[in-house]
Amino acid sequence: MSVRVTDSVRPEIRSLQPYVPGKPVEELERELGISGAVKLASNENPLGPSPLAIAAMQAAIHGVNRYPDGGSFYLREALASAWGMPFESIAVGSGSNDLIDVLCRIHLGPGDEAIMSHPAFVMFAVAVKVAGGTLVRVPGKGMFHDPAAMLAAITDKTRLVYFSNPDNPTGTIVRRRAMDDYFRHVPEHIVTILDEAYFEYVTDPEYPNGLDYLRRGHRVAVLRTFSKVYALAGLRVGYGFFPTDLAGLVHRVRLPFNVTSVAQAAAQASLQDTEQITRSRALVQEGLELFHREIPPLGIELTPSWTNFVLARFPRSSVDAARTLERHGVIIRPMTSFGLSPEYARISIGSGLENERLIESLRSLA
Ligand SMILES: Cc1ncc(COP(=O)(O)O)c(C=O)c1O
Repeated sequence: MSVRVTDSVRPEIRSLQPYVPGKPVEELERELGISGAVKLASNENPLGPSPLAIAAMQAAIHGVNRYPDGGSFYLREALASAWGMPFESIAVGSGSNDLIDVLCRIHLGPGDEAIMSHPAFVMFAVAVKVAGGTLVRVPGKGMFHDPAAMLAAITDKTRLVYFSNPDNPTGTIVRRRAMDDYFRHVPEHIVTILDEAYFEYVTDPEYPNGLDYLRRGHRVAVLRTFSKVYALAGLRVGYGFFPTDLAGLVHRVRLPFNVTSVAQAAAQASLQDTEQITRSRALVQEGLELFHREIPPLGIELTPSWTNFVLARFPRSSVDAARTLERHGVIIRPMTSFGLSPEYARISIGSGLENERLIESLRSLA
């Protein structure tokens, strides 16, 4: 009798579902025999990378026969100076997802608990399970995290508490008062992860900057990324600020060459382009206004969003709606893989033309 490899694998690994990414545009175009399809499914930035990043990538390509700088030295220096944080507090990852994974591997083993809201960013749940920890999900208040309930779920076994702020897939934030309150009460043995992948998009004056908690001496890991506002999702580069002892552990656990030389060069150059942030924010603001004006009258409810996407509740199955939209060449993302009921789908904000195209296709559903 043959033994299958999976027989000897931990049950929590066997039960994992593969991450379901948005359908590639090329795939839809091939299926339908069309061109010019629009993908509003992965919270990407339609403006494309900064010209400074493109020039830096072009220059860096010539050196890819060499391994990258394993410590991302110049990028970390640039981040330290951009944010006024110590160089030793910074680590860079292959996307911020890499750092989520590393933090779980550092802190979790059998019997250790990690708390997250439901709904929230699913990749944290995957990282907890892969690390062998126990995931504790705390229901949100509607589509908002409930920090008081998350605090109440802490036990002696809790090692990590994870906030996606703003959250994906809901697009909502935890405001400063609630976050301050959380940090006033959180026990010292806990590491709190503040995943701020959409930080640059938030203009709400009550939105807390995670770095303030780190500066005040809390045990907090603040994660950011170049995938969103900086439009470098395809390069895979994210970064985090940590208490320096934790940063030291991150550097020991992460893979030695986890960020390519091209990615380091592009990210460093992007930091110089503050215009990129202004342009991207304006595009998202315009898109959000358009979505909120045009979509609810079609019977589709939108959760308020502080990000470059919205969570939409369709009157019936969003899976059917997504299939119909695909026939119009528009890709959105049903959220069943994030554990939401089938009415919910996430729609990213695209360029002006892409947004118009979406709205026209949504009208055809009615
Ligand atoms: C809340 C949140 N965190 C982290 C990530 C991962 O980003 P990346 O690994 O591209 O930096 C995403 C990406 O969608 C996200 O929505």
